[in-house]
Amino acid sequence: MFRGIVAVVVFIGGVIGSVVPSQAQDDRLQASRQVVRTFMTELKGKLEEAVSQKGPAGAIAVCRREAPDIAARLSGETGWWVARTSLKVRNPGNEPDAWERQVLESFEARRRAGEDPSTLEHTEVVEMAGGRVYRYMKAIPTGPVCVLCHGGDLDPSVQAQLQRYYPQDRATGFAPGDIRGAFTLIEPLSPGD
Ligand code: HEC
Repeated sequence: MFRGIVAVVVFIGGVIGSVVPSQAQDDRLQASRQVVRTFMTELKGKLEEAVSQKGPAGAIAVCRREAPDIAARLSGETGWWVARTSLKVRNPGNEPDAWERQVLESFEARRRAGEDPSTLEHTEVVEMAGGRVYRYMKAIPTGPVCVLCHGGDLDPSVQAQLQRYYPQDRATGFAPGDIRGAFTLIEPLSPGD
């Protein structure tokens, strides 16, 4: 009995020391997930409403305005960098940096290996120009509504709007189940973190 307790304590100690993230890291992960959930829910709501009211071509202007607005508001509220990125971007301002590109490629490899795209996420503490930061990315799967504007067979009215606003658009040809891109957060760490 007593030996059992000792074994459990030693086991827990070992796990905390090696595998389980610290409380602070776990809190940060939960907070990151929450920000992404808010971003996704708000944007999806706006997008679906706009598509049903104005059709996909009319909804492009909404996406163009709302996505950066929501990202900027969440950045302001949290003090973090909050954005979306992709290996094939529509808005050149969403181009991934080297670290994001690697993570996006690892998401593709994990999807090919059979993981569900809606569960793919990655966190890492990295050194950037301004100091140490916590980075979080979560993959964004392509759903049925997304292919209206990101699919391979776009309505000519959608094509015309995309050509007008995004002449360098590379974000087409996606099918449901593909990874469309990812949410990406950068959270500055204070020296003690
Ligand atoms: C009505 C057209 C439309 C629909 C439907 C649509 N998008 Fe987009 N998407 C856009 C536009 C326009 C942009 C560029 C926004 C900007 O300028 O920041 C964009 C950008 C993105 C980006 C940012 C990376 C990039 O390519 O610049 C991601 C990620 C994305 N969309 C995912 C999705 C997903 C996932 C869905 C389905 C849930 C979806 N989109 C549905 C029009 C659409």
